[in-house]
Amino acid sequence: MPYKLTVNGRPATVDAPADMPLLWVIRDVLNLRGTKYGCGIGQCGACTVHIGGRAVRSCQTPVAAADNAKITTIEGLSPDGSHPVQLAWADLDVPQCGYCQAGQMMSAAALLTKTPKPTDRDIDAAMNGNICRCGTYIRIRQAIHKAAALSASRPGRVAHTMSSASGKE
Ligand code: FES
Ligand code: FES
Repeated sequence: MPYKLTVNGRPATVDAPADMPLLWVIRDVLNLRGTKYGCGIGQCGACTVHIGGRAVRSCQTPVAAADNAKITTIEGLSPDGSHPVQLAWADLDVPQCGYCQAGQMMSAAALLTKTPKPTDRDIDAAMNGNICRCGTYIRIRQAIHKAAALSASRPGRVAHTMSSASGKE
């Protein structure tokens, strides 16, 4: 049956089986390939997107559970690469192969919305489910602190992104 989604601010009607993972819808139906398939069983975080501003594993979310939801993918984090997480990631050259990084950034952005000044412990707890086989964890942590500082100096940037994502949880 058709499901109505709002993806990165744009309405989309998707005719798909109820149990089709949202990840397939995002990548194969909507052709947004920034969100990655890693494990397919909720263990790696590569497929992380936001639903209603909350980080979720899209490989474990059936499209029926996202009906009428507002979804943000890495492509929608900002219109121009200016989200503090994107700026910090670029500044600190975080990615190595890059495969896990969309998921890492989406988890980081959701963390900063909830916790604008996270401690190392907050970061470790929030990022725990995002695996990086290249071992970029130290740079990820540094970049989250940098993004938090950037957000503090540019109030509204993180909130701006998430304000368009409020919706079904
Ligand atoms: S692909 Fe979804 S958690 Fe690994
Ligand atoms: S940068 Fe290669 S898996 Fe994370």
